[in-house]
Amino acid sequence: MKVVAYSIKSFEKEFLARANQKKHDITLISNPLSPETAIYAEGKDAVVVFTNDNVSAPVINQLADLGIKYIATRSAGTDHIDKEAASLRGIKLANVPVYSPQAIAEHTVALALALNRQVVKAEAHSLHFDFRQDELIGFNFFGKTVGLIGLGYIGRATAAIFNGLGCRVIAYDAFLTESLPGIALVSFDEVLAQSDIISLHAPLTPDTHHLINQATLTKMKDGVMLLNTSRGGLLNTQDVVDALNTGKVGYLGIDVYENEKGLFFEDHEHDHLKDTLLADLMSHPNVLVTPHQAYLTKEALQQIADQTIQNLDQWQQNKCVGKACVCARNCRAAIPVSC
Ligand code: NAI
Repeated sequence: MKVVAYSIKSFEKEFLARANQKKHDITLISNPLSPETAIYAEGKDAVVVFTNDNVSAPVINQLADLGIKYIATRSAGTDHIDKEAASLRGIKLANVPVYSPQAIAEHTVALALALNRQVVKAEAHSLHFDFRQDELIGFNFFGKTVGLIGLGYIGRATAAIFNGLGCRVIAYDAFLTESLPGIALVSFDEVLAQSDIISLHAPLTPDTHHLINQATLTKMKDGVMLLNTSRGGLLNTQDVVDALNTGKVGYLGIDVYENEKGLFFEDHEHDHLKDTLLADLMSHPNVLVTPHQAYLTKEALQQIADQTIQNLDQWQQNKCVGKACVCARNCRAAIPVSC
């Protein structure tokens, strides 16, 4: 199969090469997919993308006009793809439905621990040989209540780690009805009201867009720790900035940002104009921002590459990609025939 893969970072190449074993003819380019770069797909059968690529209806139409039949994303989240547009043009879609949920869970907890124990501030002080302990007081996680929103693969892996720290774990999931061992299933409002730490693990959908906003923030405990390693759009960032200013939010750890497209994954240090909302957010000492790196472990990268190549293999043999199918007409449950 002839393929062009967009937004390829140099460190991904060895993982893709190991997975591909020269089966598919893949052109790797570092540019994101956009109306300007869609032309690189000319003469190809499939396009491979990542979370911040522009896979909107106009770009999908451009790709369809160029003869593209398949789009595979190297991510679990698929909110960046206009699935209806792809369906209308007969383009099949696939994702990486599960890859090392522990990678994202461990990063979530890393943010929580670093925020609480002021690791970044302590390191900055230590580098200047300032070894005072003022401003470094944290709290014990042991005995605290952690509230998870979304209890899929990553939510469950995160629960296991917080359970290990001796936390009481509660969770809200729109599609689950029964509690799991060590995790009490409660209502959304109960998560908001009872949690000392709230961590978001639901996908970005019209239902979850700006799930955390002024109204829901009001229902949280004062000084709550808020963690988001899911998708930036789950937070109304301006409302969270306001809540940081009043002390309602005591700590914020985010790996994703609602306006990260065109910003994250690149070096913008020397940009004349910087994103003012993000700059405002990061000016708070109790905020930690990482650049969408929660997935970034060797194990996860290999699994992403392996599943992506497997998706291309299946399509080449005219077979359904099974659980990796994200067509608008969801055929995950269907018998694995060409879909
Ligand atoms: P999953 O599909 O296993 O779990 C998502 C859970 O959210 C499901 O149990 C679902 O029922 C629940 N859910 C859906 N709508 C909801 C709502 N309105 N309210 C509450 N719960 C709702 O997905 P997984 O693998 O756990 O991933 C979760 C998200 O993490 C992905 O959608 C993706 O956006 C994000 N992610 C972030 C990464 C990073 O590097 N920062 C890497 C991988 C995923």
